[in-house]
Amino acid sequence: MTRPTAVIATGLLLLTNPTQAKPCSDPVPGLPIVVNTWGGPFTAATDAAYLALINNDSTSALDAVEIGCSTCERRQCDTTVGFGGSPDENCETTLDAMIMDGTTMKSGAVAGLRRVRDAIAVARAVMRHTRHSLLVGDLATRFAVENGFVEEDLSTEESRARCEAWKRAGCQANYRINVTPDPSVSCGPYTPLPVDDLRLARSVADDEGAASHDTISMVVVHASGRMAAGTSTNGASFKVPGRVGDGPIVGSGSYVDGDVGGCGATGDGDIMMRFLPCYQAVENLRRGMSPTEAAEDAVRRMLRKYPKISSGIVVVNSKGEHGAAGSGWTFTYAYRGGRMNATEVVTVPPLLPEESDNVPRELI
Ligand SMILES: *[C@@H]1O[C@H](CO)[C@@H](O)[C@H](O)[C@H]1NC(C)=O
Ligand SMILES: *[C@@H]1O[C@H](CO)[C@@H](O)[C@H](O)[C@H]1NC(C)=O
Repeated sequence: MTRPTAVIATGLLLLTNPTQAKPCSDPVPGLPIVVNTWGGPFTAATDAAYLALINNDSTSALDAVEIGCSTCERRQCDTTVGFGGSPDENCETTLDAMIMDGTTMKSGAVAGLRRVRDAIAVARAVMRHTRHSLLVGDLATRFAVENGFVEEDLSTEESRARCEAWKRAGCQANYRINVTPDPSVSCGPYTPLPVDDLRLARSVADDEGAASHDTISMVVVHASGRMAAGTSTNGASFKVPGRVGDGPIVGSGSYVDGDVGGCGATGDGDIMMRFLPCYQAVENLRRGMSPTEAAEDAVRRMLRKYPKISSGIVVVNSKGEHGAAGSGWTFTYAYRGGRMNATEVVTVPPLLPEESDNVPRELI
């Protein structure tokens, strides 16, 4: 049975009040279930993964994650996944992806993948055809080509035009700090300025993403109970070339332990990867929290140090119970499971920083 989204949203709204300790019961449609970050165009991924499981008994949890994430790569969900999105300072699109097996804990990932569109499939090939977990940059491209993937330009008319407009507008916003010329008004090339480490430490709580950053992170529980998770993204727009975010990092972009549950994350990846929020959320499940409580605790740990962080964490346990938390924006996630005829999208109001959430005391 599914419940109207409005009711679900109200339940989560109550949960954001810290005096409301009792978690609402999240709708549990049964297995198999597919859960992923965001609604809108990202529900095409939910449907593709779910239908692959329902229509084909041979589809594994890993297959469903790959099918779901690659659907977003091909459709360029919100232009934040796949080719033609989030150009870096040099106007190049690069891809990050990771896939993880909740039974064996084996994972495969690529970061800064250049000129190959099928990032999650290349990540799967890393898992299947190497003993490694992560390949990067041009050498990940070479591995992809050796494995039969096509090398092609990841830029589109749109991504090139967007990047040229950014340059004409003085390269605003960007991710540079403590350089000259002043990165808040000028393009590079930049050279480093002397850095006062105390002042740097005081300013970190103000860190927040400079531009768009979104990700598909997906968790699947197969009808057999086996679990898998994965993430695919083209990273942050106008990033410093070479930047790798949270997406391909195990425990950050996503995480799964089939004995317990799985997690997918999105948001200010440069900050989130310092906290391994998905590892934290799954460990929270192991210690008895509900999915919603597990997600809220993971978000609160980041909010305490970074009150302005934008984050979204979705958590599923091995029974298919799901919940989420976010900060800095209204996060949404999609799920489809059991015999549901359509994907449901859940709206998650942001948690607010508490009075006490701020930079470490010794720095004030
Ligand atoms: C069913 O899934 C298996 C494993 O992914 C795949 O090899 C096969 O082609 C699929 N069959 C159909 C009819 O889609
Ligand atoms: C799903 O579809 C079936 C038949 O197609 C229908 O009987 C059932 O009422 C539908 N369920 C929901 C929740 O819409």
